Amino acid sequence: VTHLTEELGIRLPIVLAPMAGDPSTPQLCAAVSNAGGLGSIGCGYAKADRVRELIRATRALTDRPFAVNLFVPLAAEAPSPAVVEAVHRALAPFRAELGLPEPDGVPQPAEPVWEQQVAVVLDERVPVLSFTFGVPDLAALDCFTIGTATTAAEAVALERAGVDAVVAQGAEAGGHRGGEGLIGTMALVPQVVDAVSVPVVAAGGIMNGAQIAAAIAVGAEAVQLGTAFLATPESGAAPAYKRALRDGFETVVTAAYTGRPARAIRTSLIDALEAAGARADYPLQGALTADLRAQRDRADLQLLLAGEGAPLVRELPAAELMRELERELVTTTRPA
Ligand SMILES: Cc1cc2nc3c(=O)[nH]c(=O)nc-3n(C[C@H](O)[C@H](O)[C@H](O)COP(=O)(O)O)c2cc1C
Repeated sequence: VTHLTEELGIRLPIVLAPMAGDPSTPQLCAAVSNAGGLGSIGCGYAKADRVRELIRATRALTDRPFAVNLFVPLAAEAPSPAVVEAVHRALAPFRAELGLPEPDGVPQPAEPVWEQQVAVVLDERVPVLSFTFGVPDLAALDCFTIGTATTAAEAVALERAGVDAVVAQGAEAGGHRGGEGLIGTMALVPQVVDAVSVPVVAAGGIMNGAQIAAAIAVGAEAVQLGTAFLATPESGAAPAYKRALRDGFETVVTAAYTGRPARAIRTSLIDALEAAGARADYPLQGALTADLRAQRDRADLQLLLAGEGAPLVRELPAAELMRELERELVTTTRPA
């Protein structure tokens, strides 16, 4: 038992990573919370009404604490027509093969509004709000807050802003990068632990109980696992995505799909966009690639966000995976 688990009212130092988009479901979140961890729902792409629906659907499945995760908004640059054109050109062969229509013009991505999302989280009395992509204004946020850092300096900025805990996201981590750093989890966690006095949650590449014990040994009070839960039946990832994880030894950090750096399994779509140097900013790049990302039966086109531990993924129901992680953690830490 660590201080953080006591404060959060959870039995195990395991946080389910929020995974905005398909993978995060109320079923997955509730299964982890019911098993004694802290479930999360990734609501970064969800408008306020949808955030409320997801919270209520989760509450119907668990009375344990869970977290809602949001994306801190960033100012987006005005789109350049030449860049949009270059992206369309790089994607044309894929669309031709699938018989998808050639898009014309610049799409207008409709971003959810942070203030409206936060208002729902507070109104629904969700106990924990976690977020990534920066340092928001935390005044008047009457809940436990967790920010994401990829360097010690980012963690210090989050602590100064008033977060209650920080996630130290190592380079191995699947998904979007929460900051500028690309430091391995084992190297990053002790740096962040030294730099801040709030509890640190280690994230990135952790797939089993021995790794959880290792993260705790270097100062983390809990761990956050994403990729490990992607192949559970409760995860909403497409079957082709789940199958690709076992072969996912080649992950890359790329901004090709969404305009923001993220670790994902290498696909031919990444190769084509990187080779063409065709990339608009977030969120426009995501809108430009949306029709191809939506091909749920095509593992070569989808955005296969995954960490470097992907080949260790287990296709177990989330409750069973939690039991295994607990068993491995106890076995690793029990004196021989
Ligand atoms: C599919 C996927 C989606 C993710 N989406 C989010 C998200 O919406 N918000 C967030 O803070 N982190 C997100 N992450 C990053 C996780 O919070 C965490 O840093 C990462 O999963 C840890 O590395 P691991 O995947 O090796 O366990 C995502 C990760 C994955 C794999």
